[in-house]
Amino acid sequence: MDSTMDRPSWKSKGIPMTSSLPAVVPDLPSSTADQRMLMIYVHIPFCHSKCTFCDWVQAIPTKDLLRKPGDSVRQNYIKALCREITERGAALTAAGNIPCVMYWGGGTASSLEPEESTAIMDAIRSAFDLSSVLEATIECSPDTVDEAKLRFYRELGFNRVSSGVQSFDNERLRKLGRRHSAEQADRIVYAAREAGFDDVTIDIMSGFPDQDIPELVATVDRALELPLSHLSLYSFRPTPGTFMRRTVSADGKRDYLRKQQVLFTEARNRIGARLEEYASGYFGKVSPFAAMYFQLRADTVGLGSGAISLVDQQFMMHRKGLIHQYIADPLGFDLAVPAGQDRVLISFIQAGLAMFDGILRQEWQISTGTELDEVLTRPTIAPLIELLRRRGLTEDDRGIRLDPKVAGLTLIELAFEMAMSQPEMG
Ligand SMILES: C[S@@+](CC[C@H](N)C(=O)[O-])C[C@H]1O[C@@H](n2cnc3c(N)ncnc32)[C@H](O)[C@@H]1O
Ligand code: SF4
Repeated sequence: MDSTMDRPSWKSKGIPMTSSLPAVVPDLPSSTADQRMLMIYVHIPFCHSKCTFCDWVQAIPTKDLLRKPGDSVRQNYIKALCREITERGAALTAAGNIPCVMYWGGGTASSLEPEESTAIMDAIRSAFDLSSVLEATIECSPDTVDEAKLRFYRELGFNRVSSGVQSFDNERLRKLGRRHSAEQADRIVYAAREAGFDDVTIDIMSGFPDQDIPELVATVDRALELPLSHLSLYSFRPTPGTFMRRTVSADGKRDYLRKQQVLFTEARNRIGARLEEYASGYFGKVSPFAAMYFQLRADTVGLGSGAISLVDQQFMMHRKGLIHQYIADPLGFDLAVPAGQDRVLISFIQAGLAMFDGILRQEWQISTGTELDEVLTRPTIAPLIELLRRRGLTEDDRGIRLDPKVAGLTLIELAFEMAMSQPEMG
């Protein structure tokens, strides 16, 4: 992808579009039975610290997560990743898949040195045709980037920066185990704009066990002063294995959930007054990556340890934390099952309902190989659907969706209950 290119017009490329969308969703491509759209996801399982709340990396041994440039395990990881990109990319390209979004996440994708990023991008460009990519995001943390690195990312071909921030309260950042200050977080947003990124988003979080409303409001208000195109708000999931989960007692569970919902609502109302919410906790300019992922508009090739793929109605996973196993065999999967399995579909339902435009019948059928109506009646899935119907689930020819007024709190409750129902590890 040329970093200076205009976004491609899908209509002029003769690529099928979904018509009559609600105003908030821009024209986005969708796979058809004979034309697969593809999302390229690259997973970088390295960070500068292990944050106390983070459930993306809790399965990665701290020693591996913190491996520095020059470390032989890290070097071998990059080589294995490039091998996976080359081999799977060549096969997907030969099969006619059209990449339409790219996302490098983790972990912290920006913890890579420029040479490491260049090696990965070279492998991607050799294996895929990126000329139709609408959005290419690099996930950062404020302690891992400066102006020069952001300019480098723009030149490398990214057009969107997404940075974790979580809070603008320096005491909170310290407690979270973050390696940056609120001032550094401010600076990287301005630096990204200076470097030529029109699309800049940050993540903030609500619902820490000891958080109060004034603290959260101060963070939200400071975020809203920044020149952001998008803002993501996440309610803390008390996932086993995170340090923060140990501070949550099972006894006070109900009260804590209620508190989380109050905090999320307060933040959501304040942000919503300034930026339009298009998916639960996602505000501002619609991200094609987020929308297409939620709505299963495209297949996903997940590259790297911890990445998941949905390709040709097959669900495949490199299990998180197994970096050494990945290095030994980057083309092997820890799980490879038809996408029509109940557990896979439940995760797609929960993700899809985050999008206010909801789950789309046709895209669902093409991506999973199942009919939505049949899935909703399956014995392991029907109880969830009954609960959602009691919350006012809409079901029509287009698909199924939750009313934005209830979507956020319902999904927080489901994620919270799922996290709390799992036993604390070790
Ligand atoms: C994969 S992380 C990467 C962010 C980047 N490494 C950073 O920390 O700046 C993406 C986002 O997930 C969110 N997140 C992580 N753990 C979470 C949890 N337990 N509950 C809710 N959101 C969480 C955070 O907001 C984080 O920024
Ligand atoms: S929040 Fe980001 S920096 Fe912190 S552990 Fe998770 S992925 Fe790493």
